[in-house]
Amino acid sequence: MSKYEKGGHIIYHGEALEVMKNEIPDESIDLVFVDPPYNIGKRFADFDDRWPSDAEYAKWAYEWIDECIRILKPTGTMYLMTSTQAMPYFDLYVRDRLSILSRIIWSYDSSGVQAKKYYGSMYEPILHCVKNRKSYCFNADDILIEAKTGAKRKLIDYRGDTPKLYNTKKVPGNVWKFPRVRYRMDEYEDHPSQKPEALLERIIRASSNTGDTVLDPFSGTFTTAAVAKSMERNSISIESQESYLKIGLRRVLSMNESDGEKLEAVKKNTKIKNGHGVKYEEKSGDLFSVDS
Ligand SMILES: C[S@@+](CC[C@H](N)C(=O)[O-])C[C@H]1O[C@@H](n2cnc3c(N)ncnc32)[C@H](O)[C@@H]1O
Repeated sequence: MSKYEKGGHIIYHGEALEVMKNEIPDESIDLVFVDPPYNIGKRFADFDDRWPSDAEYAKWAYEWIDECIRILKPTGTMYLMTSTQAMPYFDLYVRDRLSILSRIIWSYDSSGVQAKKYYGSMYEPILHCVKNRKSYCFNADDILIEAKTGAKRKLIDYRGDTPKLYNTKKVPGNVWKFPRVRYRMDEYEDHPSQKPEALLERIIRASSNTGDTVLDPFSGTFTTAAVAKSMERNSISIESQESYLKIGLRRVLSMNESDGEKLEAVKKNTKIKNGHGVKYEEKSGDLFSVDS
């Protein structure tokens, strides 16, 4: 295990359970965002995301879920993701230990064919849980969105003494639409399961305050820490794969090199002249399916 640290941001290169057990004190974290391997056979560098059975995947997960609960402050919040098929295991386990406030659907569209003989998977579930449902952080005013009323004109509220415009802002519901990270987006990194910054922005804005500590035990491309940093939160990240660690060192700790190797953003060289103008190759997996 190695540790890197700069200005309120810590990165561990190591195994999530071991790092949490040995390095993170009880009740020290305000917000945990967990986006683990989903047990759907993805390849994360040298790590193969496949367990022999659902039950063994769940048993593995319950150990780090317990750790996440241990390190969460009494007022803390955890957001927990996994595949649609594994989520029932997580939900049943977590609901006995934390209060699940929302079961969020992160829904996205895809131009690719998802499935031909069944309904393709177009969402990923997220549990929003807290330790104490009477005392937790939820900055509702910081995440307001425009309500879709369907009306063409502005609606007017005539019920008071003076007519006034209806408030059209509201707290988002539990179906969130954010595009997946595509090759052409600035935030794109070379990783099979990068989460969009917009998703993490909503979570971090709603469930933490400036100066709070946000932990992500399966950091991947370090979206959580990068967004936390941009919002003046502190962060702790854990990632087992060296190639992804390097993304974090660059993206979160602003390091230009590590062990003599230059740390550079993905070079996008996919402009292909095809005789009909310029075509961009879509490298992000359009055929990605969670329910595989
Ligand atoms: C679903 S991805 C996380 C993606 C991340 N949320 C993002 O936005 O890029 C899961 C990550 O966990 C890493 N990983 C797998 N097993 C691990 C373990 N035991 N400890 C720490 N990291 C692990 C994988 O290498 C992979 O990068």
